[in-house]
Amino acid sequence: MIFKQINPHSCRTYLIGNENDNSVILVDPVIDHFADYLDLLKKDGLTLTHVIDTHIHADHISAGSSLKDVTGCEYVMHEAAPPQCVSVRVQDGDVLRFNTIEIKVMHTPGHTRDSISLIVGDKLLTGDFLFLDDAGAGRDDLPGGNPADHWESLNKLNELPDNLMIYPAHEYRNRQPSTLGRQRQSNPHLQKRSKEEFIKYLEDLRLGPADWMKDVLQANYACAKDPNAAWIPIDTPACEIKGTMEKGVNEIEVQYIEAQELNNWLQTSRLEVLLIDVREKNELTGPLGQIEGILHIPIGQLTGKLTELQEHKQKNIVVVCRSGARATTGAQILKKAGFERVYVLKGGMISWNKSK
Ligand SMILES: [Fe+2]
Repeated sequence: MIFKQINPHSCRTYLIGNENDNSVILVDPVIDHFADYLDLLKKDGLTLTHVIDTHIHADHISAGSSLKDVTGCEYVMHEAAPPQCVSVRVQDGDVLRFNTIEIKVMHTPGHTRDSISLIVGDKLLTGDFLFLDDAGAGRDDLPGGNPADHWESLNKLNELPDNLMIYPAHEYRNRQPSTLGRQRQSNPHLQKRSKEEFIKYLEDLRLGPADWMKDVLQANYACAKDPNAAWIPIDTPACEIKGTMEKGVNEIEVQYIEAQELNNWLQTSRLEVLLIDVREKNELTGPLGQIEGILHIPIGQLTGKLTELQEHKQKNIVVVCRSGARATTGAQILKKAGFERVYVLKGGMISWNKSK
């Protein structure tokens, strides 16, 4: 089987094909690359038989309608998808067969009503239903989004094996595809929560405004073929929860502290240091362990704890996570809230353990 990601930026488009014939499928193609896709098909002598959109997109205009018009391919989406130009509508459990390739459809609503995930051999294409590692998943606060549905959909993953490789529709920070097993450890959306806890977790993330995304949705509802049908900011991690938290948080600069230096601080002036570990509960008892005396606040709850933390404002606050990524977000949230002496443990618990 041929399987590759063909876009040069954070929107991911996957090309899937048979090695023995020239027919291929595109998943989540982006209008800005419409001409590139046609060039690729021509250059490699490929026939596009199907385009699949994993859901109605809010951050880019789909190339599905244009590719269908120009190549005569089928345009596949879930049966609840709004665009009228969709030619094949699928539902949960459907199996699409393309020569020797089988694509199993899972309905995974939450980010949108029409979100589907696709199982292709040992791969799971998740759309915005699940991203990689601390990126979590696509936001649920746009039209058609529903946190309770998202929780139900995430539970469907329980039946799937650890070794499935996860390929999302977005990746803004060059995280590499990894297994569902790894996501169970590192993705904050996949930590065990009741439905109520999950809804609260999403509320606590306090995502920033996204009015422009509603215009993009409208353009996709209408099967737009013009890349300028809606205004889209360049290089915004629009669909990533981390990137959509309170406007401006991601631009705040933070200071880092090396594991060795933190160790010196703890030896010499322990009382002046507050360690906040922002990992999920199960990670604290995992192989990386935890530093003695931490205050545990999972990253999703940090904004809700800022008032409680006021009493520690005079201390040096060191934010800790697995590798430093979530802690950087945590430190940015604290700095935005007026905490000044904030540091991130560089390299997180991985570096801490190596330094010992
Ligand atoms: Fe999306």
